[in-house]
Amino acid sequence: IKTIGVLTSGGDAPGMNAAIRAIVRKSLSNGIKVKGIKKGFNGLLNEEIVDMDARSVSDTIQRGGTVLYTARCTEFRTLEGQQKGAEICRKHGIDGLVVIGGDGSFAGAQKLSALGINTIGVPGTIDLDIACTDYTIGFDTAVNTAMEAIDKVRDTSTSHERCSIIEVMGRNAGYIALWCGIANGAEDILLPEKYNHDEQQLINNIINNRKKGKKHHIVINAEGIGHSEAMARRIEAATGIETRATILGHMQRGGSPTCRDRVYASIMGAYAADLLAQGKSNRVVGYKNGAYVDFDIDEALAMQKGINDYEFTVSRLLAM
Ligand code: F6P
Repeated sequence: IKTIGVLTSGGDAPGMNAAIRAIVRKSLSNGIKVKGIKKGFNGLLNEEIVDMDARSVSDTIQRGGTVLYTARCTEFRTLEGQQKGAEICRKHGIDGLVVIGGDGSFAGAQKLSALGINTIGVPGTIDLDIACTDYTIGFDTAVNTAMEAIDKVRDTSTSHERCSIIEVMGRNAGYIALWCGIANGAEDILLPEKYNHDEQQLINNIINNRKKGKKHHIVINAEGIGHSEAMARRIEAATGIETRATILGHMQRGGSPTCRDRVYASIMGAYAADLLAQGKSNRVVGYKNGAYVDFDIDEALAMQKGINDYEFTVSRLLAM
């Protein structure tokens, strides 16, 4: 391997820049040239490819977003798109590629591997929904951003003795909601993996907590459940307690990455660069049980992950 490419794909995540920086600099130290591919697989198909050196990634480790930009690419789901992508890699002398993104992006990486481009995935998503790894780049920053925002909503919720429904991101996964639920001491957490849609039970809980003397009632609602505005209207009608909905939205994806995100992104990025230097392909980097590891992409995509039952049970108990 003489030259590799790096791209970010899917939703951006704080820490992606730290991963790019590590991939560039570790590859250079391995004697391998690096090209940056802009705007994910879209940019590959449009040949938005630039040479990168150590200075290209100066002053980026502390920045949110991705300096390579990102996109979701429908054309790359087709065989024609994948073949075109592999040909463009060959045309530019790219014989290895690191894809930083989520499961969808790894599916693209898997196809490129099958077409002869050595490809490695690095888990970058705020959702934490990649089964082969305990950690995904961006989760820590996102969950801290959400936690701080929820603390602020809680202040005003208490002052007005309201119920507040706060919707957090996570697509179909409830990890951000669970972690905020524990960290913010939320009275209720609605997770796609756990919520039985028994709204009467939720309403009873809100009324009982008011009787117990609680001044606010924070419901953290995962994006996978959604419909927070309508839920707030129904709860207010049923309980007589003023209820407001706040959807945190894309602010959760921005901001300077936390120390944890910078460190894990740096090590995972370097690890991916080393896998390519060793001639490996079709692998995903992960952090599992305290160690940096890598898995075959096919195996990684087949793995299942769920909410930790003990964490969920304790979170409910502590909200008494
Ligand atoms: O995967 C990250 C994520 O922020 C999810 O939590 C959310 O469902 C989705 O991306 C939002 O995507 P978009 O930026 O396209 O609105």
